[in-house]
Amino acid sequence: MVFEEVDLKARTLTINFASSKSSTVHIGQGILADPETWTFLNGTTQLALITNPTVRELYGELIQRVLPHNADVFEVNDGEEYKTLESYTALVDSLIRHQYKRNSSIVALGGGVIGDLAGFVAATYLRGVRLIQVPTTLLAQVDSSVGGKTAVNHIRGKNLIGAFHQPEHVVIDTTTLDSLPQRIYAEGLAEVVKYGVIDDAGLFCWIERNQEAILARDPRALQHAVTRSCEIKAKIVERDELESGVRMLLNFGHTYGHGIENAAGYGKLLHGEAVSIGMVLELELSVRLGLCSRDTADRVKRLLASLNLPTRLPNALAAQDIESAMQHDKKATDTQFRFVLVRNLGNAVADYVSDFGLIRAILMETS
Ligand code: NAD
Ligand code: GLY
Repeated sequence: MVFEEVDLKARTLTINFASSKSSTVHIGQGILADPETWTFLNGTTQLALITNPTVRELYGELIQRVLPHNADVFEVNDGEEYKTLESYTALVDSLIRHQYKRNSSIVALGGGVIGDLAGFVAATYLRGVRLIQVPTTLLAQVDSSVGGKTAVNHIRGKNLIGAFHQPEHVVIDTTTLDSLPQRIYAEGLAEVVKYGVIDDAGLFCWIERNQEAILARDPRALQHAVTRSCEIKAKIVERDELESGVRMLLNFGHTYGHGIENAAGYGKLLHGEAVSIGMVLELELSVRLGLCSRDTADRVKRLLASLNLPTRLPNALAAQDIESAMQHDKKATDTQFRFVLVRNLGNAVADYVSDFGLIRAILMETS
């Protein structure tokens, strides 16, 4: 798509699921502050807004002004290290204390941490209440708010406790990305590059051509990057809501990535940063297994680096610690790891690899 052709009008995507209700994804500039956006909440009786102090300070008042019903605000400390069972329990305690009923709604306002945590509360409180995702980081807008994965971390591994619970609505206001610190904006770009590599060579080339506008957060660039990413994610999760097939492709970079994130200590390396390094490692694995050309792997690595994303392991991380963290991942069995391997841009496959020597060698060489 030619850059100037990007339409800034708000968009709506509907995702239909076989086993649950559909999700409606609203994408646009300034839609958070538009009361029209929120008419789907008319008639709500109890509304819990779950957020953290950083996001509350930026957007809490704005959203409370336009919501059609007074919301109780519940805060969680800011950071990946608070995506825990303890935070979950504290939130559930609050809902019980406020006598929240089954027909209540939970609004998750924040990045992927708040979305995953509040989502898990919504999935489990009284066996499930209505969830509305309002993602405010790029990573959450292009990935975590869509598709219904909710979870908390365990000391032994990322997202080990969770559930699938589809948000009824996802409200994505791209203007909220203006307040993101540079590093947090960049980590979201890792997931956009991911969609290009696994599914859409056209998107990958578009990112290559428009790096400057993307890094400058040009509204048209944001609109296209977010909309195209959500379209790809919607197409995939509609086909495979519970990750028994094609959805596994969305884990590109995550087998190594989750191990890296866990070994570094939650919050030290951002999720998207760990995924960026993980994608480089999984491309190397694809090259060594004879699936992917060296040129393609180098091209992806160059793009990640020019988007200010890390492509090597931090010095302080030991390959052994990463490997042992990978053993606890959901994508591991006793004898093999499941990886997403790349054949070419836009063409990837999820497969098991049992050559631990090779998996370890790649870790050692990249540190
Ligand atoms: P995050 O939620 O920690 O947000 C990053 C930081 O940005 C936080 O300090 C937050 O307070 C701040 N922030 C949020 N919005 C802001 C704004 N508009 N302006 C300024 N600051 C803002 O991190 P994240 O990268 O959004 O999400 C990472 C999490 O998402 C990880 O836990 C990861 O496992 C999860 N995730 C889940 C899925 C899924 O499918 N459920 C997919 C990918 C990632
Ligand atoms: N972020 C991976 C998934 O939603 O499946």
